[in-house]
Amino acid sequence: MDQLDKLKIIFSQDSILFDSDSLQHYGKDWTRVYAPDPLAIVFPESTAQVKALVEFANKEHLALVPSGGRTGLSGGAVASNKELVVSFERMNKIRAFHPLDRSVVCEAGVITKTLQQFALDNDLIYPVDFASSGSSQIGGNIATNAGGIKVIRYGLTRNWVLGLTVVTGKGDILELNNGLQKNATGYDLRHLMIASEGTLGFITEATMQLAEKPKKLSVVVLGVTDINMIMNVFEAFKKTITLTAFECFSELALQHVLQAQQLTRPFEQQAPFYILLEFENDTDSREDQMLNTFEICSEKGWIIDAVMSQSEQQSIDLWRLREDISESISSLIPYKNDLSVTVSNIALFLDELDQMVSKLYADFEVIWYGHIGDGNLHLNILKPKDMDIDAFFKVCESINHDIFSLIKKMKGSISAEHGVGLIKRDYLNYTRSEEEIAYMKALKNVFDPNGIMNPGKIFSA
Ligand code: MLT
Ligand code: ZN
Repeated sequence: MDQLDKLKIIFSQDSILFDSDSLQHYGKDWTRVYAPDPLAIVFPESTAQVKALVEFANKEHLALVPSGGRTGLSGGAVASNKELVVSFERMNKIRAFHPLDRSVVCEAGVITKTLQQFALDNDLIYPVDFASSGSSQIGGNIATNAGGIKVIRYGLTRNWVLGLTVVTGKGDILELNNGLQKNATGYDLRHLMIASEGTLGFITEATMQLAEKPKKLSVVVLGVTDINMIMNVFEAFKKTITLTAFECFSELALQHVLQAQQLTRPFEQQAPFYILLEFENDTDSREDQMLNTFEICSEKGWIIDAVMSQSEQQSIDLWRLREDISESISSLIPYKNDLSVTVSNIALFLDELDQMVSKLYADFEVIWYGHIGDGNLHLNILKPKDMDIDAFFKVCESINHDIFSLIKKMKGSISAEHGVGLIKRDYLNYTRSEEEIAYMKALKNVFDPNGIMNPGKIFSA
């Protein structure tokens, strides 16, 4: 009996796919740079079934790759080496809601938007948000500690996880933290699982915290005179209003969005950089504070123009100028950087990075955008039309050393929110020390002694 036949003992016929379209579809994520080549795809429907599968995989030395919405940008959900893909899309139920705890028990395959809508239906919010919320899944968000556009106010996915059910690489089921707000009983393995990219265990269920709904949010887009003015503007607004987002993007990024999405400019005058900020506009005085700050920034010559949303629809439209950048440039084969430093270092970082990029990437189109209020910048390099894709990636990789050395010097991160996966794994030592990596590998060995859980991700297998 081959492995596929044996799998049929755990999974019914309609829970295993191995036709070539499915192998292509489920074997890759949004990085699109690795050729998918999985063995098959299975669709478990319970934690018990995941446990049975992991036990089977240990006996058979079969590598498993967890698969959520596959919206990742680091190759964390790529299966290119005859691994078995474990899709959580059938584990998509919201199992319980505890209004007093403001918590929701979700299966791993619940789509982010479904949880957001569930929260709204109960007059609450699930505040972690990003452009891929319509297809990303809660399990994947937790496995990568997803960030997004509201981190400045609400933090990362990690902040919203009250409990986890995990099947470890040894096949044990762990119930971690049980939805508790307070639990000071030693090592918190829940937090070890968050951002572990499926290399220690597979998350099958999560208890997520919800939050109070803000009364009214307004969106402002500002045109900034120079990249080095962005953080002056940030400091001025952060002091005066409660920001729920502080994002930036370049004129080139805006041009791609306007063209790809058929949108209109926020205002006529062009600026080299734009800031999109969102704030809690719940009293008249807040709006006055916003306007006063805007005037101060204009007088100082940091801002050239601005627009503020006057309706919910206008907020949505302004947000699209920032949120649609990734999709608008995806067909142009960007080489993606997801860099971070502390917020207090970002002005210095931008200055040094700008000089470095103009020299090293002089012949390339460089698209700047990111969650600048969190110290996180997405620097995307576009492939020249006439350049071979492999040659393009080689050039970018050769430039990585300079950019990542700057990150290392500033004690920043080579992957702020996209994860390590395959794409950043050879650069881990720019952010983590050799000693720390050794501890990480030792932990991997404890939870997954046979190396079957998403092998090759974060470190080489
Ligand atoms: C974003 O902030 O738009 C996402 O992280 C996706 C990307 O960086 O392209
Ligand atoms: Zn981002």
